[in-house]
Amino acid sequence: VVIVPGYGMAVAQAQYAGRDLTNLLESKGVEVEFAIHPVAGRMPGHMNVLLAEVDIPYDKLKEMDQVNPTFPQTDLVLVIGANDVVNPMARESDPSVPIAGMPILNVDEAVSVVVIKRSLSSGFAGIPNPLFAADNTLMLFGDAKQMAVDLVSALGQ
Ligand code: TAP
Repeated sequence: VVIVPGYGMAVAQAQYAGRDLTNLLESKGVEVEFAIHPVAGRMPGHMNVLLAEVDIPYDKLKEMDQVNPTFPQTDLVLVIGANDVVNPMARESDPSVPIAGMPILNVDEAVSVVVIKRSLSSGFAGIPNPLFAADNTLMLFGDAKQMAVDLVSALGQ
């Protein structure tokens, strides 16, 4: 499992539940890593700070260049409140797309993707995200913290 945190994780303060989910999955023998996009969130190092706050070991944080080649071999990507940094529209060459050419986390190449966010609303760049409609994506609509707590509770049973 690769967890992709974004601005919504920060807004919801979902890093604690994300940590609990990580620990629970690992107790069941699942390998968990975090994929960190350099501009995820709203300030440099935003995700690193939040994850350090909840004692996620530094060696679990993978940078974009390191993690991108591994997505085709990844069973599940869990996106927690990220949007632009996983938007495949960035691969378009159309200059009218505000994020065209921005390197992204290619999570759409994973076997399955679960996206936690409250709605289909756009992110900072204000554009739709075709990832949300992809055949291998499941949307889990709700507040990131509540949804992560619910996942921990469901997995624990
Ligand atoms: P964004 O593209 O901004 O998307 C964040 C998503 O979080 C939103 O689509 C929103 O969807 C969701 N969200 C908000 N509150 C939530 C909550 N309580 N629970 C669950 N989801 C919630 O985030 P990103 O992928 O991290 O990308 C960052 C963007 O900010 C990039 O475009 C980047 O260029 C820009 N930016 C970054 C920086 C730095 S230095 N990091 C500085 C300025 C701008 P819903 O409303 O549907 O929930």
